Amino acid sequence: MILVGVLMNNYPELSGRKILITGATDGIGKELSLMFAHTGVGLILHGRNPERLATTLKEITEETGNPDIQTVIADFTSLTQVKAMAEEIKQEVAHIDILVNNAGLYPKCKVITEDGFEQTLQVNYISPVTLTLALLPILGGKKPSRIVNLTSIGHCFVWSNIRDSQARFFGG
Ligand SMILES: NC(=O)c1ccc[n+]([C@@H]2O[C@H](COP(=O)([O-])OP(=O)(O)OC[C@H]3O[C@@H](n4cnc5c(N)ncnc54)[C@H](OP(=O)(O)O)[C@@H]3O)[C@@H](O)[C@H]2O)c1
Repeated sequence: MILVGVLMNNYPELSGRKILITGATDGIGKELSLMFAHTGVGLILHGRNPERLATTLKEITEETGNPDIQTVIADFTSLTQVKAMAEEIKQEVAHIDILVNNAGLYPKCKVITEDGFEQTLQVNYISPVTLTLALLPILGGKKPSRIVNLTSIGHCFVWSNIRDSQARFFGG
């Protein structure tokens, strides 16, 4: 709790803020969640796997003592789940100050989702855009919000593949 106080004093602009981080159960998203949790800011952590999300919540809560962390679940290969998650958040939260679109994957093989998209395109791009658009009513307004999109230089290499549904080569 002393650490939370110190960090909050160092980041007074985060006081009373709410941050949504997608893909909070691993990698960059998990580290970012831990870092923000130390400041005492209100967090919404997203995951696709309930067990991994519960473990992440437990670890971050125990390490930081931050009492203001909630979780939401959606598999980004399903736009139905992404939209349901956005509705759930809008029911519970009046405003999001920072949205971090971090969830992403880099698969070895080509998989088409229930929505008919190649899964990298859907999880890394279409679902974050869908989530962001659905959350617009609680982003911005009188209080400005920030949207952070994590991306990859890999986007430079995919266009011919995406446009050619018959392409034999697949790279995540
Ligand atoms: N690390 C790099 O070098 C690098 C380079 C370029 C770009 N990026 C971008 O940075 C972001 C984070 O990368 P990272 O390396 O930290 O990735 P990571 O360690 O693999 O973590 C990815 C996160 O996204 C979640 N996720 C994966 N598939 C999902 C799905 N279908 N629905 C919902 N959530 C899903 C994962 O959930 P689970 O825990 O359940 O798997 C995990 O929480 C990604 O957008 C990635 O494209 C990373």
